[in-house]
Amino acid sequence: MTTLFLTVGLPGAGKTTRARQLATEHSALRLTPDEWMIPLFGEPEADGKRDVLEGRLLWLALEALKLGSDVVLDFGCWSRDERSAIRWLAELVGASCRLVYMPVDHETQRARIARRQSATPDQTFPMSEADLLHWRTLFEEPDAAELDRHEVGGPPHGWSDWLEWAADRWPSLV
Ligand SMILES: Nc1ncnc2c1ncn2[C@@H]1O[C@H](COP(=O)(O)OP(=O)(O)OP(=O)(O)O)[C@@H](O)[C@H]1O
Ligand SMILES: [Mg+2]
Repeated sequence: MTTLFLTVGLPGAGKTTRARQLATEHSALRLTPDEWMIPLFGEPEADGKRDVLEGRLLWLALEALKLGSDVVLDFGCWSRDERSAIRWLAELVGASCRLVYMPVDHETQRARIARRQSATPDQTFPMSEADLLHWRTLFEEPDAAELDRHEVGGPPHGWSDWLEWAADRWPSLV
């Protein structure tokens, strides 16, 4: 059985650092959207292209899992629904999914982002104090039940299954 590792956490939490370690430990394919967005478009969102890019990376992740490779999907996944959808899709192709949650307090986050911005400005984007505070209000922290859980609940009302939900969230998934 192959494993999908899914990073969860705010910017600067250390997700990509951990994702690199996991990729080495498990000989896994690591997919980090910023490593595609920056060379392709030079900006993080690029008029919604990030959603399109992530859909293709998720598709690629599922193909690799089917072919027998472990995958580290370094999406950060702030929303519980995103995490549930990705877990459901991984299980659909016969893989297991492990959430890799990297909690970070505000001061640590700010210090790490500042250090990274000065050390490797070409690999990241400027982030303001206001951005960090706003993003923290949007982040849905996974609870113990979600981190342990092996069963995924159903999709939000109005969606027939998680694939339909995911194909709306990431338009290029299917
Ligand atoms: N455990 C750690 N202790 C100290 N510094 C760390 C740790 N993990 C990561 N860092 C440093 O903090 C910075 C941010 O780490 P990283 O790029 O891995 O975060 P990220 O969660 O991937 O952020 P983003 O969401 O913006 O991509 C980097 O400069 C990294 O070297
Ligand atoms: Mg990162």
